[in-house]
Amino acid sequence: MLFAYLVSHFLNHALGNISMDALAAGVYYHTAFWQFLPVAIAFYTAALVHAGLGIWALYQRRQFRWKAIEPLQLVLGLSVPMLVIAHIIGVRLGQTLYGHEKLYPQVLFLYWVSAPYRISLMLAVMTIAWVHGCIGLYLWLRMKAFFKRAAPFLLAAAVLVPTLAMLGFYQGGRNVVDNDSVDWRKENLTAQQVGTRAQQQVLDRITDYALIGYLGLVVLALLARGARAINERRRGMVEKEPTDLGTGQAQRDAAELDRLAAGGVALVRGQLGVAGLQQNAIGRYVELLGRDLAHRGQHALADLDAAGRDGDLAG
Ligand code: HEM
Repeated sequence: MLFAYLVSHFLNHALGNISMDALAAGVYYHTAFWQFLPVAIAFYTAALVHAGLGIWALYQRRQFRWKAIEPLQLVLGLSVPMLVIAHIIGVRLGQTLYGHEKLYPQVLFLYWVSAPYRISLMLAVMTIAWVHGCIGLYLWLRMKAFFKRAAPFLLAAAVLVPTLAMLGFYQGGRNVVDNDSVDWRKENLTAQQVGTRAQQQVLDRITDYALIGYLGLVVLALLARGARAINERRRGMVEKEPTDLGTGQAQRDAAELDRLAAGGVALVRGQLGVAGLQQNAIGRYVELLGRDLAHRGQHALADLDAAGRDGDLAG
């Protein structure tokens, strides 16, 4: 849903390559759909849940299966709200609270005339949000049967859509700069459209609080991660691994854990021994204590390595 919004929004920007009228026609249909109440509720719920899951993942994730892409995906995703909060509060909350009508002329004037430093910020967030969405879609769709056939077309679209959107942003911005005049401003920057200075200050303050709140949550997640690591190290734990990887994975884990048990490794809380036998063990956590591992020979360590774990963690 979030990516669909991005595609629709970016295609709308791309109309800036044609004319301001084309932008206005596009935004008419774009907003008719996305501001339709059930759609708007679903969209903002999805956005909040998605951001929440991102922060939760920052705390919770211990291991990344695809070593480079998953942490990158997390960092890109976490930076999007920070970069786009001002834009969304300015446009959406301005409309909800005060009935502002900020469409392309108003938003483009803000970026290209009032606050040009925000041009690079918007280009950055367009790139980041798009790459994040494409990685997400790729991780989701790559196993589907049609993916192999569709991949070249998807790649072409993944490059074309943001490129055209950025060019449209540039052309639209240039159009606004070229047409900027007292008359243009009288027509396009009325209090009804962009609000009063006092209203803008309220929106700016809300943006500041939202940013501080969001950053606070990110810092909290990092602190909680740190506290957990210290706590676990004190208890001598070297690894804690979720078994919520599907039945097959749980069974492989269980088989391996049986081997470890046979090698004399104590299984903390006894959960590992049942992980493969009972499907309801999926989703539980498995813990290995360092002092147990320290007593094991090379042989057992090789077992751990075979599962992609880091043997020297055991030292
Ligand atoms: C140069 C880049 C951008 C420009 C020129 C731009 C322009 C606009 C404009 C004119 C609106 C108000 C009309 C409408 O709803 O379409 C808007 C709203 C919005 N934009 Fe953007 N946008 C840009 C980038 C982004 C990005 C990267 C995101 C998300 C990651 C985003 C998310 C939103 C959202 C959520 C709304 C409010 C929709 C609503 O609830 O009405 N925008 N944008």
